[in-house]
Amino acid sequence: MKELKERILKDGYIINEDILKVDSFINHQADPGLMKQIGEALAAHFKDKGVTKVVTIESSGIAPALMTALALEVPMVILKKEPSKVLNEGLLQTMVTSFTKGTSYELTLSKRFITEMDHVLIVDDFLANGEAATGAIRLLRMAHATVAGLGILIEKSFQPGREKLIEQGIDVYSLARISSLKDGAITFIPESE
Ligand code: G4P
Repeated sequence: MKELKERILKDGYIINEDILKVDSFINHQADPGLMKQIGEALAAHFKDKGVTKVVTIESSGIAPALMTALALEVPMVILKKEPSKVLNEGLLQTMVTSFTKGTSYELTLSKRFITEMDHVLIVDDFLANGEAATGAIRLLRMAHATVAGLGILIEKSFQPGREKLIEQGIDVYSLARISSLKDGAITFIPESE
């Protein structure tokens, strides 16, 4: 997506060879106009897939997921990062470990919001190692839902997330695919590849 890539080049900055900071328009401050365009682009790609709900992981996925859900005219569900609540019958939980942040959390979903009737599009801001997306898929399967695909804003294609998900048969669609953050430059994979 041209607008997102241009914004990344203008306002993104490289922390190191692995991490791109985008906190002025996605992660901390969000640009509503850009989020609307992102939602429309993701919705256009998945419009014929029979999506019944858009699911995201708090917190940075919420803005683009909401805009995608608006464009698809379906509800959005937020998977929460909560402490273990083994005694609560209505909750599904699965442990996710973030390599980037060095943290673990229980990804949590109420059974009330996703059922076996749902065909779900997962939307998230970054795809790095694929752990968050894999955890989300695990949780959706625990709820007996099916996965329509994964819509990502920024894919770091030099990390293994995309391959891991494709191996599981997931349709991965990323609006900006970064092949390298080396030598102080942000390099994208051309859209045709
Ligand atoms: P994975 O889900 O693909 O395996 O990625 P990983 O665990 O390695 O990292 C997950 C967290 O780190 C996510 O945030 C993700 O947005 C963030 N992250 C990964 N790479 C980058 C990067 O290059 N730049 C920035 N700014 N963030 C990155 P989170 O823990 O879900 O937090 P939140 O921002 O959604 O609250």
